[in-house]
This record gives sequence, C-alpha cells and structure tokens, in this order.
Amino acid sequence: MKNLMEKTNVDISAPIKIGTLTCRNRAFLAPMSGISDVPFRKLAWKFGAGLVFSEMVASEALVSGQAEMEMKALGGGLPIHAVQIAGRQAKWMALAGKISEDNGADLIDINMGCPARRVTNGLSGSALMRDPDYAMRLIEAVIGAVKIPVTLKMRLGWDDQTINAPQLAMRAQSAGIAMVSVHARTRCQFYKGSADWDAVRAVRSTTNLPLVINGDIIDHQTAGEALERSGADAVMIGRASYGAPWLAGALANQSPSAKGNSSLAPESVGSIILEHFEEVLLHYGSQIGIRQFRKHLSWYIDRLSADNRYSPLRISMLTSSDPNHIRKLINQLFCQSIETVAA
Ligand SMILES: Cc1cc2nc3c(=O)[nH]c(=O)nc-3n(C[C@H](O)[C@H](O)[C@H](O)COP(=O)(O)O)c2cc1C
Repeated sequence: MKNLMEKTNVDISAPIKIGTLTCRNRAFLAPMSGISDVPFRKLAWKFGAGLVFSEMVASEALVSGQAEMEMKALGGGLPIHAVQIAGRQAKWMALAGKISEDNGADLIDINMGCPARRVTNGLSGSALMRDPDYAMRLIEAVIGAVKIPVTLKMRLGWDDQTINAPQLAMRAQSAGIAMVSVHARTRCQFYKGSADWDAVRAVRSTTNLPLVINGDIIDHQTAGEALERSGADAVMIGRASYGAPWLAGALANQSPSAKGNSSLAPESVGSIILEHFEEVLLHYGSQIGIRQFRKHLSWYIDRLSADNRYSPLRISMLTSSDPNHIRKLINQLFCQSIETVAA
C-alpha cells in the first residue's frame, strides 16, 4: 500500500503500548466536551480509531453523583474505555479516578489543557500548568488511587513566556504517568494561530513516554508532518472529526477517505448518520437526543455539500423534533444519489 504519510517514520497503523494497555493503532479521537460522547466514540472506534477519549468529566460532580457527569463517564461497551477527568482538588480527582476504574475504565486521562475561563478560573484545566507543584499533587493523587494507566493531556504552557510542557512531562513521567498528549498551543492562544508542532520536540527530549501530538491535524499530510516535526508517536484528532467520525480510523488505516472532506459514497454516509442518530436517541432519549444531534447533522450536511445546495431540507431537518421525520430526511438527503436529491 502507498504510504500516505511519507514524511514520518512512525507507522501510524502499528499498535502502541500505554502502560499495561495496548492500543491497536496510533490515531486517537480527542476528548471533546459536547462531541466525544458514547455514540460518537462508538462510531469513531468502529471506523478504526486506536483510542477514543470521553468528554471531560468534572471530578467533584462525578463524585457527588451528578447524572450528567455519570453519563459522560460511561464506557458504552467499548473495548478500551478511557475517561478524562478534570478538577482542582487532589481528593476529588483521586476519587473520580477510582470511581471510573470501579465502573470499568481502562485508562484515566487528566485534563490539563482546557482553556475555558469557567474551567481555568476554577484553577483546573490548563490553569494547572501555572502551578506545576500543585499540578503534580493532583497527578500523584490520581496515580495513587488507581491501578489502570493514567495519562496526561496538556498544552505547551500558559503563554509564550511560560512554556513548561517539557518540564511537566518529565515530572509526570517520574510520577508514573503512562502517556502525554500535547495540544501544540499555549492556553493564551486558545484556538488562535496555528499549532506549533515543532515546539513539542522539546517534550520529546525530556521524556521517553508515548507522546501524542494534537492540534490542527486534519488529514494524512498534516498527520505525517505533525509526527515528523514533533517526534511524537501518535496523533490525536479533534475538530477535523466533526461530521467525520471515521477520520481517525481512516488515518490509521491509510484510507483515502481521510482527505478531510468526505470521499465516502453518500450512501455510506447516510447509513453512518442513521446509525449515529439511533445511538444518540438510545443514549439520551429522543428530546435531548434530537437537540444533541443537530450540530452533528449540520456538520454532516456541510461536509457533503459545502455549497448548501440542500438548504430547504437542511432547515427542516435541523428544526424538526420528530425522530421519524428526521430519519426520513436523512434518508432523502444522504441515502439517495446526489443527483436524485438535487433534481
Ligand atoms: C468543542 C471542543 C470541546 C473540547 N473539549 C475538550 C475536553 O473535554 N477535554 C480536553 O482535554 N480537550 C478538549 N478540547 C480540546 C481538544 O481535545 C483538542 O485538544 C483541540 O481541539 C485541538 O485539536 P484539533 O485541532 O484536532 O481540534 C475540546 C475542543 C473542542 C473544539
């Protein structure tokens, strides 16, 4: 098979070990609040992603039994159940890790990358990077509370003047962290500018842990370049998976459908969307499920028809509250040939 990622020596389709776990390949789905729920993770896994992370789970809310957090932490029967936890107090983080492990998690990921003000004002997410000693106490508490591998996701640092991912990764490795993922931006960048894959080389030089590069990876070319420039062992895909749950798997399997826009036939996209919709209805029930699904539908439509040529159907699909009507429109839009629908 032609190597679509010519720039790197990393074989993205090869398994990778994370502590005691073995992942089947090196293309992972990123944790994304509001996106990487059980239905989306199931699809991404089905299409071949090597690892899929839950949405961020607020540790204290999970410990206090908040239903929304319990739902986010579910594994959905996936062969590898990876739960990402966030928080600012060691005791809640440790307990949330333990609860997740007791509920079947195979891996706990600690969020040290979220830039959102509501999270950083509470001194969790990427704010932890401003106080490495404090962050280490959290990390040690989680590692001490569970037997499964604990991994860490972070940014390069808080801002350009305080890039400390390399030092933190080194300390995390000594504490027993099993893998480090780096979103190659600072917190103060939020999502602006471009991810600086070269900057992650410094993390590579301070740790021999499995290293995951994240940020702006959208296809074979960017995956190859990010691996080559960072020296990382695996890639993590976030926003490019919108409306494309198959993307991580397509990268891992060197499939041409990882070109960024869908090159799957509309018929197969239709059955993927229907499967996604049914999973969402099952997971959330129809009232919340339909609301949750609208953003996905909108991304699927955009991916298939950037020129919005189906807009009357689009409006109808995105405003309907009737699952049967939505199923019918998905069939109409995605399961017939484009010519038939456009006529
Ligand atoms: C809508 C959205 C939600 C996110 N939620 C989380 C989260 O819960 N935990 C986390 O560590 N990162 C979260 N992220 C960050 C992503 O995991 C990823 O680091 C970032 O989007 C950069 O990767 P990308 O360029 O491939 O999207 C989120 C990003 C987006 C866009």
